[in-house]
Amino acid sequence: MDVGRMQDLLWKTRASIIEKSFVVQNLHCVQDAVGSDWERAMMESALTARDRVGVQDFVLLENHTSEVAFIENLRKRFKENLIYTYIGSVLVSVNPYKDLEIYTKQHMERYRGVNFYEVSPHIYAVSDNAYRSMRSEKRDQCILISGESGAGKTEASKKVLQYYAVTCPASEHVQTVKDRLLQSNPVLEAFGNAKTLRNDNSSRFGKYMDVQFDFKGAPVGGHILNYLLEKSRVVHQSHGERNFHIFYQLIEGAEDELLRRLGLERMAQQYQYLVKGSCPKVSSINDRSDWKVVRKALSVIGFSDDEVEELLSIIASVLHLGNVQYSGEDSGSSYITTDTQIKYIARLLGVDFSVLKEALTHKKITAKGEELMSPLNQEQASSARDALSKAIYGRTFTWLVNKINTSLAFKDKFNSKNASVIGLLDIYGFEVFQNNSFEQFCINYCNEKLQQLFIELTLKSEQEEYEAEGITWEPVQYFNNKIICDLVEEKFKGIISILDEECLRPGDASDITFLVKLEDTVGGHAHFVTHKLADGKTRKVMGREEFRLLHYAGEVNYNVNGFLDKNNDLLFRNLKEVMCSSENRILTQCFSREELTDKKLPETTATQFKNSLAKLMEILMSKDPSYVRCIKPNDAKQAGRFEEVLVRHQVKYLGLMENLRVRRAGFAYRRRYEVFLQRYKSLCPDTWPSWDGRLVDGVSTLVKHLGYKPEEYKLGRTKIFIRFPKTLFATEEALEERKHSLATKLQASWKGYNQKTKYRKLRWVLGFMFRHHPRCPENEYFLDYVRYTFLMKLHRALPKTVLDKSWPTPPPALTEASELLRKLCMQNLVWKYCKTISPEWKHQLEQKVVASEVFKDKKDNYPQSVPKLFVGTRLDGDDINPKVLQALGTEKMKYAVPVTKYDRKGFKARARQLLLTASSAIIVEEAKLKQRIDYSALKGVSVSSLSDGLFVLHVTCEDNKQKGDAVLQSDHVIETLTKVAICADKINNININQSSIKFTLGQGKEGIIDFTSGSELLVAKAKNGHLSVTAPRLNSR
Ligand SMILES: Nc1ncnc2c1ncn2[C@@H]1O[C@H](COP(=O)(O)OP(=O)(O)OP(=O)(O)O)[C@@H](O)[C@H]1O
Ligand SMILES: [Mg+2]
Repeated sequence: MDVGRMQDLLWKTRASIIEKSFVVQNLHCVQDAVGSDWERAMMESALTARDRVGVQDFVLLENHTSEVAFIENLRKRFKENLIYTYIGSVLVSVNPYKDLEIYTKQHMERYRGVNFYEVSPHIYAVSDNAYRSMRSEKRDQCILISGESGAGKTEASKKVLQYYAVTCPASEHVQTVKDRLLQSNPVLEAFGNAKTLRNDNSSRFGKYMDVQFDFKGAPVGGHILNYLLEKSRVVHQSHGERNFHIFYQLIEGAEDELLRRLGLERMAQQYQYLVKGSCPKVSSINDRSDWKVVRKALSVIGFSDDEVEELLSIIASVLHLGNVQYSGEDSGSSYITTDTQIKYIARLLGVDFSVLKEALTHKKITAKGEELMSPLNQEQASSARDALSKAIYGRTFTWLVNKINTSLAFKDKFNSKNASVIGLLDIYGFEVFQNNSFEQFCINYCNEKLQQLFIELTLKSEQEEYEAEGITWEPVQYFNNKIICDLVEEKFKGIISILDEECLRPGDASDITFLVKLEDTVGGHAHFVTHKLADGKTRKVMGREEFRLLHYAGEVNYNVNGFLDKNNDLLFRNLKEVMCSSENRILTQCFSREELTDKKLPETTATQFKNSLAKLMEILMSKDPSYVRCIKPNDAKQAGRFEEVLVRHQVKYLGLMENLRVRRAGFAYRRRYEVFLQRYKSLCPDTWPSWDGRLVDGVSTLVKHLGYKPEEYKLGRTKIFIRFPKTLFATEEALEERKHSLATKLQASWKGYNQKTKYRKLRWVLGFMFRHHPRCPENEYFLDYVRYTFLMKLHRALPKTVLDKSWPTPPPALTEASELLRKLCMQNLVWKYCKTISPEWKHQLEQKVVASEVFKDKKDNYPQSVPKLFVGTRLDGDDINPKVLQALGTEKMKYAVPVTKYDRKGFKARARQLLLTASSAIIVEEAKLKQRIDYSALKGVSVSSLSDGLFVLHVTCEDNKQKGDAVLQSDHVIETLTKVAICADKINNININQSSIKFTLGQGKEGIIDFTSGSELLVAKAKNGHLSVTAPRLNSR
C-alpha cells in the first residue's frame, strides 16, 4: 500500500470516528430531550444532522487534492444553507444572498466558550476562538476577511462585532462603547458604500478596525483606519451603479424642512452627480428607512444637531456643485450659466459668493512674482469643479472617521496600554469591471498584498517552521504572488514609481506617456502586457490605452486614462483658499491654512496608499491572525444559485486548495515546550507540580501519559506539533476537569483551615476567661500559649550586656520563673564578662565597688566620680621630697595625694601630702612627716554628705603621741577615701554626716565643722568658732 493511500485510510478512519461522535452527540440530544429542554434538544439534534452534509472541515475530504471534490462539498452544503466550512482553522464562507436564521442570540450562546471543533462551522466560532485566544494567551488577534466584491466581507465583519457586543461582559460604560461600535457601521456604510454592479452595498473604502478589550474581557474602545475612498464615484458612476448611499438617503429620507434649508428637492434625477449611472433606485435598498438608521446612529456616536446640520450642508453642497453648469465664450474662457447653485453652496459652506464663483472659473497663477487670475475653459472649469467636489467629499469622509474614533476612544489612558485588541479587516475585494481604472488598480494591488500576507503567515511560514524544527515534511507547491507585488510597488522600477515619476516630471507628461514608460520599464515582466506587447489573441481583447496585469486572482485590463490626474489629486490653489475661508466648522478642520503655505509637494495618491498598506501589513503581522475567506456563489446576487465556474475561480485564486494541502500534511497546533508543559503539567503525576529534567522529556512524558498516539503529534526542536485540533481540545477538557478537582481540593483544605481557626479562636476566648483559675481543661491552651509566647519573646529579647537591665514583663503564672531566669541570665552575663577582663581593670572595679558601697546615694559628688577612673597614685616619686621617701625606708607607699590640712587652731589651710602605706596614713609637709596615723589608731573617717572634699581622720585619744584628729580636704575625696578605706580596712568606718562633724583637737578639746550648701566651696572659721564649710550644689541632687 502506498503512503498516499495509507494517509487516505487514516483520514477515513478519522472521519468515521467523527461520524460516531455525531451519533453520540445525537444520543445526548435525545437524552436531553427527555428532560425539560425538549425544544432546544430538538433544534441541536436537527442542526447536528444537517451539519453532516458533506464534511464540515475540508481536511476530512477523502480526495483532498481534487478541486472537483472541494467544490462539490461547498455546493452540497450551500444547497442545505450550510454556508460555512473549515479548512482547519480557516473559515470558508459562501454568500447565501438571503437571511438565514443562524445569527440569533441562541446561536451566539451555542458558540460561546465552546471549542472550535465541537460545534458546526460558523463565523461566531472564529470570533469566539479569537476572543478566547486573546484572553488566555494575552496576544492581540486579528480577523482577516477577504474575498471579492460582494462575497460577504462586510456582512461577516458586522457579525463578528455583533457577537462581541452580545456575548462579552458589559457595564454601563461598556454598553455605550458597544452601541457606538455597532452604530459606526451604518454611518460609515452610508458615506463609504455604494451600489456597484457587483454589490448593492459595496464598500468603496478599506476598513481596519481595532476593538479594544479591558482585563475583564469587556469591549472598551475601538479605532478605525480607513483606506483610499473611491472619490471618483462622487462625480461619476458607471452605468447601473450609484453614488454613495448618503446622497440618496438624504434626498429620500430627510424631512421637508431640512431639504428646504439645504436647498434640495426630493428627486435624485435632479442632480447631475446622481444620474450618471441611470439607477437612482435599487430594489434591495430602502433609502428612506436607511436614512432613519443613519440619523439615529449619528446621535448614538455623539454628533450634535449642529454637527449633523454642518455635515449635511457639505453633502448638499456637493450635489449643488454637480449642478453648476458652464458655457464657453469665444475667447475660450467659461462662465457659470446660473447663480442659483453658487448661492446655495456659498450659504451652506459659509463662503463668499463672488470669491467662490471666480474660483470655479479661474485659476490663480504666479507670473514673475505676481499673482494673476487666469480664466479656465469650459472643460477645465468642469474638472476643477469635480476636483473640488471630490476633495470636499473625500476629506469630509476622513473627518467622519476621525470623529468616530474620538467617540470610540478608550478613555482610560492609564489602562489603554494594557488593553488587548482584536483587529477586523474588511477591505475592498478583488474586482474586475469592463473598464478598470486607477481605483481598481489600487484595490487589486491591496488584494495582492493581503494574499502575500496570507502566504507569509500560513503557507510559507508554516513550511519554514517545520523545516526549522526538524519535522519531516513534504513541501507543498503554491504560487507566491510576491512577484506581482514587486511589479507594482518596487522602488524606481515598480508601476507606482513610474506613475509618480510621470506625475512629477516637467514637460508634457500624459496618461499615454505613462503607458509608454511602463512598456519600456516593465514590458518584459511575466505578469505585465499591453496591446503593443501582446500576442494577436490577447490584442483582440485589449484596448490600445490599456495595460494588463496578471494578478494572482486573474487578469485585469486597466485603462490608463485618468491615472495621472487621480494620482496627482490636484485641487487649484484658489479653490483651496475658498475652502479655508469656510465658516463650516467641519470644513475648517478638513482644509487647513498651513496647506496653502506648505511648499512641499504632497505625496501622490498611489504612494500614500502604498505606505498605508505597508503600515497595515505591519499591524497585521504583529497579531495572531484568523482567516475568513468569502466566496460569491453567483454574479446575479441571487439566493440558492451556485455557479461552479465562478466559485472554482475564487477557490483557485484564494489559494484554498494549497491551503488545504498544507493543512492536511501539517499540524493543526504547535506550542513551545515550556508553554505546553506549564499549561498541562497538572495532568500527569510525573510532571506535577514541577518537572526538573529537559523540557522535551517532560512534554514526552506528559503526552504519553495523556495517551497521545504517535501519529497525533511530533516533537520538534523547541515545540510540540499536534496534528489534529481534536487532540488538543481533549487535552483542554482534561485540564478543565483537573482544574475542578484541584479547586475541590483547595476548597476542602481551605474549609478545614477555616474551621480550625474558628475553633482556636473559641478556645482562646474561653482560656482568657479562665486565666486566673488553676490549670484546668478550659484554660490549658491559653496558659500554654501565654507561656510559650512569653518564653519566645524572652528568647528574642534577652539582655546582651551586663548593663542592659531590660526584661520583658512576665505573665502572672511565670513571675517566679522569670525572676529566676533573669538572675541566671545576669549571672551568666557577669560570668562571661569577668572572664574577659584584665587584672588592672578588675582592680579598678573592686575599688569602684567599694566606693559604691560607701558613697552611693550618700554623698553628693559620688555620681561625678563614677565615670572617672581611680588612679594608682596622684603623686609619684618626683613629687615627694626624697627625705620623706628616705624616712619611709622600706615601707611601701600605696597611694599619695595632695591635700589641704586645716589647723586645729584657727583652721588655717595648709598644703600637705597624704601618703598611704600598708600600715599607716602619713601627713607630710615638704620634707617633714608631720603626722603618722597608724591604721590601728584610726578610729574612723568622717565626711559630709555634700559635694565638698573635707574629711576628718579620727584618731584614738589615748595615744598621746597623736595630735588629735586631722581635718583634711582632697580634690579627689571619693578616690582618696576609697583608698583609705581599702588600705586601712575601714570600709565600715567611713561615716557620712549630714550637717556637722565633731572632731577632737587634742587634749580632750573638741572642734566642730558645719556644712551647708551654697554656690561655691568656702571653708572658713565661723564666729562661733566652728569651721564652716559651704559646699557647692550639684545638679545631680
Ligand atoms: N451571511 C450573509 N447572510 C445573508 N446575506 C449576506 C451574507 N453575506 C453577504 N450577504 C449579502 O451579500 C451582500 C454583499 O455582501 P457584502 O457587502 O458583505 O460584500 P463585500 O464582500 O463586503 O463586498 P465589497 O467588497 O463590495 O464591499 C450583502 O449586502 C447581503 O445582501
Ligand atoms: Mg464590503
